[in-house]
Amino acid sequence: MLDSKTLTQFIIEEQRKISGATGEFTLLVNDIATSCKAISDGVNHGALADVLGSAESENVQGETQKKMDILSNDIMLHVNGHNGHVAAMASEELEEISAVPQGAKHGKYLLVFDPLDGSSNMDINVSVGTIFSVLRAPEGIEEPTEADFLQPGTQQVCAGYALYGPCTIMVLTTGNGVNGFTLDQDIGEFILTHPNMTIPEDTQEFAINMSNQRFWEAPIKRYIDECVAGKEGPRGKDFNMRWVASMVAEVHRILTRGGIFMYPIDSKLKSKGQGGKLRLMYEANPMSMIVEQAGGASTTGRERILDIQPQEIHQRVPVVLGSKNEVERVTGYHQQ
Ligand code: AHG
Ligand code: MN
Ligand code: MN
Ligand code: MN
Repeated sequence: MLDSKTLTQFIIEEQRKISGATGEFTLLVNDIATSCKAISDGVNHGALADVLGSAESENVQGETQKKMDILSNDIMLHVNGHNGHVAAMASEELEEISAVPQGAKHGKYLLVFDPLDGSSNMDINVSVGTIFSVLRAPEGIEEPTEADFLQPGTQQVCAGYALYGPCTIMVLTTGNGVNGFTLDQDIGEFILTHPNMTIPEDTQEFAINMSNQRFWEAPIKRYIDECVAGKEGPRGKDFNMRWVASMVAEVHRILTRGGIFMYPIDSKLKSKGQGGKLRLMYEANPMSMIVEQAGGASTTGRERILDIQPQEIHQRVPVVLGSKNEVERVTGYHQQ
């Protein structure tokens, strides 16, 4: 403990380098960390706290909500809404943006989150996570509207996730590299354990839901066919495959040992009128900022995700991210 650094110490040190920093951002990150600790606690108790299974409600995405989706969302809103660091919040589980409670001070940040990512894994006791993105609220605005949230990913002040796996780990970037902090359950603090995380440029591991193969577009079909062909194919090497079905866990694996993760557009999604499966503002954008900050790349196959001008809070996009050389290869196949 004596030579370890807590998340709060780390953020304070980073903020000292910025002239004019008021400490508000440090307090916001602290609140986000507190919410993730509370969600981690809920996730860890599982059936003991009666948080497994589905609720009887549907979210705006048309998904049946898990009990833990609702609890995680409530924790995020409650912990981050009262302390005066955010002006408004938006969530996967809320149709509309959420203003800070009546009487609470309005802060200068907008907070966007996926309170529980991979929630279909909750009941089978496999990793889930929380994804968040911090944007600046436009100055001089009393009540932010949805339009104020519609900023491209390049405008994010901070992006991060908490992964509730064998241990709870928080990974974040403020645009100055990527750092990981493990929750020390005994003292209740996130401790810097993974400084300067970087993604190797090359990889032999891919992650995609293969059950959608027949719906994919030609460039994705070609890329995966070539990976699967292995040593005997045009790539001349064998590939390994993983699919956790929690984007947080996939991205964390890629930050740890490289890889490429894809949730591409396909004919099945198109027939439902969807532009992809994953949501731009609280899944694709924060993860793309982290991946780029770690030296990787992130694209829809056709354009850099962080450059997309969002049209709505719950917009969906295709996602291809991870080790740079593989992502560039997929982009190349889309150009041919
Ligand atoms: P969420 O649980 O927040 O709705 O997100 C689930 C997402 C993502 O984390 C994962 O990569 C993907 O959906 C899993 O999709 P499949 O069910 O098609 O495997
Ligand atoms: Mn969901
Ligand atoms: Mn998600
Ligand atoms: Mn979710």
